[in-house]
Amino acid sequence: MNVGIFDSGVGGLSVLKSILKEQLFENIIYYGDTARVPYGVKDKDTIIKFSIQALNFFSPFKLDMLIIACNTVSAYALDELRTRVDFPVLGVIDAGVSATKYALDNKDSEILVLATKATINSKQYQKRLQDEGFKNINSLATGLFVPIVEEGIFEGRIVDSLFEYYFKELKKSPQAVILGCTHFPLLSDALQEYFGKDCKLIHSGNAIVRQLKENFDMKSINKEAKLSFYASSDVQSLKNTAKIWLS
Ligand code: DGL
Repeated sequence: MNVGIFDSGVGGLSVLKSILKEQLFENIIYYGDTARVPYGVKDKDTIIKFSIQALNFFSPFKLDMLIIACNTVSAYALDELRTRVDFPVLGVIDAGVSATKYALDNKDSEILVLATKATINSKQYQKRLQDEGFKNINSLATGLFVPIVEEGIFEGRIVDSLFEYYFKELKKSPQAVILGCTHFPLLSDALQEYFGKDCKLIHSGNAIVRQLKENFDMKSINKEAKLSFYASSDVQSLKNTAKIWLS
């Protein structure tokens, strides 16, 4: 089975990592629009336009499935992309919401959604979590996490000062933090340390794997996938991050 994985940049590698671990696909084509990252500060029409262009990039590969490993694209362009192809197009927001349902028994749990400005403004997580009955949802746009992750910085002083900058108003640690941008799992270790070990981090990659197994009945093929990387700029830099992140 051929699957395409699309993100604005390196963030989708966090989803790729979870998928590789489960050995669900024979052939994986990863495309990062690194020439135009970040998407999270762009408007809806631009995000949709770039997403359609990415979909066109995949056309020679005869995909059986496309995974939108980007919350920002999932928030704005999923419906449009689905009308253009006859294979399944999966988004990470659906998966993230259902993973939250599994992770939290108590609908009063305090949930913090971290995502790009565009994803937060779309209110997709907030609305869907409310539809699932969750009552205590806080959300924060933490877009500066994206460039530091693109830069390969996952810990240290810059990360600590961004945490201080974004989280200073939070009175206490929430029960769960939704990593509502696929770049953010690359900061998981630092985030887990900051929020404490009792805080559940909801990760889009693990959420997508759950969805593939449950909704598409996918099982391990017990074989390593053939992996190809493409980027709209500097594919070598994407491959370098992949080498660090996937090892
Ligand atoms: N990784 C992306 C997401 O999940 C977007 C980051 C960006 O391009 O701003 O939202």
